[in-house]
Amino acid sequence: LLSSVLYRPAIHFSPLKNFMNDPNGLIWDQSTQTYHMYYQYNPNATVAGNQHWGHATSKDLFHWEDHPVALNIGSDGALIFSGSAVIDVNNTSGFFNGSSNKNFVAIYTRALLNGTQDQGLMYSTDGGYTYTPYSGNPVIDLNSTSFRDPAVQWHPEWNKWVMTVALSREHKVRFYESTDLKNWTRLSEFSAGIYGVDYECPNLTPVTDVDGSKKYILFVSINPGMPLGGSATQYFIGDFNGTTFVPEDEATRLLEFTKDNYALQYISQGSILNGTSSYGSNAFIGWVGNWQYAQNTPTGSWRSAFTLARNYSITENVYGQRVIAQEPLNVETLRIDSESISSNVSLGSNNTEHKIELPVVTTALELIIKGNYSSLPSDAAPGQGRFNLKLANDFNEYVEAGLDWGSGNLWLNRDNLTGFDNPFFTGKFSTFTDVTNLDFNWRIIVDASVLEFFADDGITVGTMAYYSSIPLTNLILESPNGENIDVEVEINPLAKSMN
Ligand code: FRU
Repeated sequence: LLSSVLYRPAIHFSPLKNFMNDPNGLIWDQSTQTYHMYYQYNPNATVAGNQHWGHATSKDLFHWEDHPVALNIGSDGALIFSGSAVIDVNNTSGFFNGSSNKNFVAIYTRALLNGTQDQGLMYSTDGGYTYTPYSGNPVIDLNSTSFRDPAVQWHPEWNKWVMTVALSREHKVRFYESTDLKNWTRLSEFSAGIYGVDYECPNLTPVTDVDGSKKYILFVSINPGMPLGGSATQYFIGDFNGTTFVPEDEATRLLEFTKDNYALQYISQGSILNGTSSYGSNAFIGWVGNWQYAQNTPTGSWRSAFTLARNYSITENVYGQRVIAQEPLNVETLRIDSESISSNVSLGSNNTEHKIELPVVTTALELIIKGNYSSLPSDAAPGQGRFNLKLANDFNEYVEAGLDWGSGNLWLNRDNLTGFDNPFFTGKFSTFTDVTNLDFNWRIIVDASVLEFFADDGITVGTMAYYSSIPLTNLILESPNGENIDVEVEINPLAKSMN
């Protein structure tokens, strides 16, 4: 199989050809019932460089229609780096003829040929398809070489736009306010947790707390220098009063225990004509990639994919820590029920390994795995209560999710694959899982070269790119110590949504 075909996801967005990185300008246009998604794109090569904003639209976040590049390099020669989009319904910017749901403004970083990074605007009068650069660019210029990735939202309670942007090399997130998108006033700065080298793509999003009050999550993507190598995303839960973000505590929380979800952006709802809401929704899309190897992956004529859109909410983990829980949005709608397989497997000393042939290998699968250890002593020692799930092919290649109940270790493993040989393509990732009861519940989306893993009700999450030499067509469940584990398996083929 050609690698460009073998690795092409069926339900995750990927560019038809060439290189993609960060999602940009994610926005729901209520008036046309359409999601717009822009993305960092090099139209000429399968590596980064020559950055533009590619463009796709969707009604459901699964079926994406490709459009021509939306933000092109203009007469300033500046590359188009990451940023966000808003619908300027009430024409606060004065770019438009009046109020309209078609008034789109993109706020992006201009990466100038002399190395300067500043913030510019482009506006669209056709609902987000074609854009014109603002003649007054830049709108914020600090004469800096590390100032990028503006995320802008309208805040109805303060009647103003707020920009969240990175002073990358200073490891600072800075907030600005504006009433017209053109003139910006500095508000405050935030810096905490892991610094790494560069802060990138900060996002501030309101969420409803468990008690119904309003909280904010500040996501900060960092590259390089994250604990697992290369890039990753940390977040803070806190309050925003229109000027300052105050975290509830100083702890850094990592979005995932793996290293392939970067530069996420929330999906903004946009302004609704005559309506009130313009907040970010509680869903984001991330880039399945790590700058350590994203430009070397073996996918042939195209490179990189996005995560599925994920919902996030505040919850508490088993240690009483406030964290976010994530779940893939609306995956149920893609299930092909007639092709689903369910089975109950009793693993034990007579049955340490159970193999199931996967029903359809040309599309993505959702695996729901519920395990029960009712005969394991509740004081099981480390090494007891071992469970492995493998997605394997007949060449002895597999990706594995594993669990050691006695120690509370959970892991993902992509070491036993031969499709990609790269020193930074870390093979094993481990974390802790909730072992207070004798059962577990995993949800895994597996799609050609992208795996998304959810455990502990979405508290424990790992996105992992993987590259096998031929498709993984078997599911293998193992109790290597012969311990009794009852496993309920549900395999749901998901209808292909991408070409
Ligand atoms: C993050 C990033 C951003 C920048 C863009 C350039 O992955 O480095 O900081 O705007 O990619 O493509």
